[in-house]
Amino acid sequence: MTAKRLVDVSWEQFEALPVDQKAPYLVQTDGTPFHTLFAQQFDFALLDRLTHLATEIRGIAKTRAGMAFLHELVCHKRSMLYFSQPSSRTFLSFLSACQILGVQTGEVRDTSTSSEFKGESREDSVRTFSSYFDMIIMRTPEKGLAEYTAWMLSNSDRPIPIINAGSGQDQHPTQALLDIYTLVRSFENNGGLRDRTVVFVGDLARGRTVRSLSHLLTNYPNIRQIFIAPPQLQIGDDVLANLRNKGVAHRCDENFQAAIPEADAIYMTRVQDEWDKEKGDSARIDTSRFMFGEDQLKLLRPQAVVMHPLPRRGEISSAVDRDPRAMYWRQMRNGMWIRTALIAMTFGCDKRIHEYHRQNL
Ligand code: NCD
Repeated sequence: MTAKRLVDVSWEQFEALPVDQKAPYLVQTDGTPFHTLFAQQFDFALLDRLTHLATEIRGIAKTRAGMAFLHELVCHKRSMLYFSQPSSRTFLSFLSACQILGVQTGEVRDTSTSSEFKGESREDSVRTFSSYFDMIIMRTPEKGLAEYTAWMLSNSDRPIPIINAGSGQDQHPTQALLDIYTLVRSFENNGGLRDRTVVFVGDLARGRTVRSLSHLLTNYPNIRQIFIAPPQLQIGDDVLANLRNKGVAHRCDENFQAAIPEADAIYMTRVQDEWDKEKGDSARIDTSRFMFGEDQLKLLRPQAVVMHPLPRRGEISSAVDRDPRAMYWRQMRNGMWIRTALIAMTFGCDKRIHEYHRQNL
């Protein structure tokens, strides 16, 4: 991919591009991401590079000497965590990733304590952060804000990388990276991530993690996707159109029980009722057939895995937690390693990590 420059396009021109044509504007000359905004930026080669880097980092981090090496890698950079939407795991795993690499951090989690409360525009706020920090990791309820911020800062005199940690109902690229890393690790001694069936269950209409992961999975050979949801919460046409264009086998269905024995991975999600147009809309939808408990475990293949981006509500019963196929806790920790890898790569440290790994492990 030949890198293009965001300074060469107006916001209107950039915004109007199809998402895959935006990708060249977000990379550095060596093909690594500068801004991370969309799942569509990651092709197989980059995913492979990133997952290997995460595994090297996790190996290096096992020793005190290794941790000391990692700690000084990016200690000359500072990162802002701007989370104007609730978050536990994404926030803490990015914070931990920064800490592992020695990146100093600052945070705004409640805009009522920042100058936005005094009427400062979001644009001025992020410009302010860019004066003090070398990267902004941002989660916002607004679709497209991370993208706009990336364009704006790339057109300012302090162009610093933006990492999208969840934008509206649209994209959650780093969650998809950790989900891919979890799938790659789950099948690495058993034929790899190819020729598999992934079953997505729950609120597929408004869950951004599924949208991003569905896209990333198209980079792996022969991964069939099944979308199980009540009609009101079924996956968007844009996601299905993408699968059709790429010739990926898929189907939408309401019959969860029938899909379980077909699955190599079940990806459960919660109802996203914070997006209800009228309070209580979601509560009127019958989701009782979309729960995973001990009865569903009995239908699951011995080598399959159960995933969830978390937080969960009732959709996976806690009785499932003890089963070795329950992958959601490991999935969460994988998030810390893949985000560490992404930050290290963004700051150009991957070669030093490979070198250390080669010499010491
Ligand atoms: C997800 C999100 O915020 O989209 N959570 C997360 O990042 N782990 C899923 C959710 O909130 O349901």
